[in-house]
Amino acid sequence: MRALVVREKHGAAVAEVEHLSTAATPNRGDITVRVLYSSLNYKDALAITGKGKIIRGDYPFVPGIDLVGEVVNSEAGRYAAGDRVVATGWGIGEEHWGGFSEFARLRSEWLVPLPVGLRPAHAMGIGTAGFTAMLAVMSIEEAGVGPESGEVVVTGATGGVGSYAVHLLSRRGYQVVASTGKDAVEYLSGLGAARVIERDVLASGAERPLDSGIWAGAVDSVGGKTLEAILSQTRRHGLVAACGLAGGAELSTTVFPFILRGVTLAGIDSNTCPYDRRRKAWERLSREVDGAVIDEMTETIELDDLGSASQTLLAGNITGRRIVRVGREAS
Ligand SMILES: NC(=O)c1ccc[n+]([C@@H]2O[C@H](COP(=O)([O-])OP(=O)(O)OC[C@H]3O[C@@H](n4cnc5c(N)ncnc54)[C@H](OP(=O)(O)O)[C@@H]3O)[C@@H](O)[C@H]2O)c1
Repeated sequence: MRALVVREKHGAAVAEVEHLSTAATPNRGDITVRVLYSSLNYKDALAITGKGKIIRGDYPFVPGIDLVGEVVNSEAGRYAAGDRVVATGWGIGEEHWGGFSEFARLRSEWLVPLPVGLRPAHAMGIGTAGFTAMLAVMSIEEAGVGPESGEVVVTGATGGVGSYAVHLLSRRGYQVVASTGKDAVEYLSGLGAARVIERDVLASGAERPLDSGIWAGAVDSVGGKTLEAILSQTRRHGLVAACGLAGGAELSTTVFPFILRGVTLAGIDSNTCPYDRRRKAWERLSREVDGAVIDEMTETIELDDLGSASQTLLAGNITGRRIVRVGREAS
């Protein structure tokens, strides 16, 4: 099988496409999947370049936190040969060999069926980023924050999570305010943003513990001072979904938004999301994401391109997402 393999050489991680025997895959699973597509995420770029301590398994290691493919054989009984499945999270591509390989050995409980009608390449266009955005949208809805409640702010809006959050919320009828550091009004309006604000508006943090209530809800990929500002500006019984730390991991706040306005700060962890919720989110993604938007937002690359694409991604020079073609779909 062809795979992008990371090996440790003289203390540094070196990634190259190699031909491996399928027997080389650590046998920690109960199901074998022929991988059709994967995608390139920030974590993958760190694993490939060795710039971040993402790999928790032994070397040699195959990264790739997302994959879609066809079951080759299953010892668990949950799936049959030929079934199409999606895998994200659960340490795949971090602790367990991941999607940058023609075959993957996985645990069946990590998988969900590929929803009927969702093309495999589109599933990877969505990937962990779109899945995380959907989990945030579900949290907002479950808190009773609806399109009539007021504006919902999305930070890091041109990123993977942010772009899908803008798209999904606007399609549900929410008034979406997209916060970005880029000159991207056209892109974000195309995804459905009602208005676009400069990243700096929120980046300096909260002026007061309770500022004027502006946001009915929020999907935040940035964290730090930005999250602090959003909490102080969230209206009564609003929900803020904390997804990421693109701007910082620290959070300084008071309890006032929580005890005087009933604001909820909801944590989103796509990695360990339980099966039923995971499946519900993917079913909704298959219905609610516009395929034309995925095509607009993505570019397909090959295993051999992963090294250079990782450098570009880490330099902040990628807009949208990269789908990685790993195997061939039967025509
Ligand atoms: N909770 C989960 O399960 C989960 C899942 C996936 C990702 N994440 C996390 O969520 C975050 C976003 O992931 P992603 O895949 O969307 O990443 P991404 O595609 O790299 O997007 C991140 C966006 O954040 C903004 N940004 C970057 N640097 C910033 C800075 N210093 N200050 C403020 N904003 C900055 C940029 O958007 P603008 O230029 O538009 O401002 C950028 O496009 C990351 O922290 C990631 O680790 C969490």
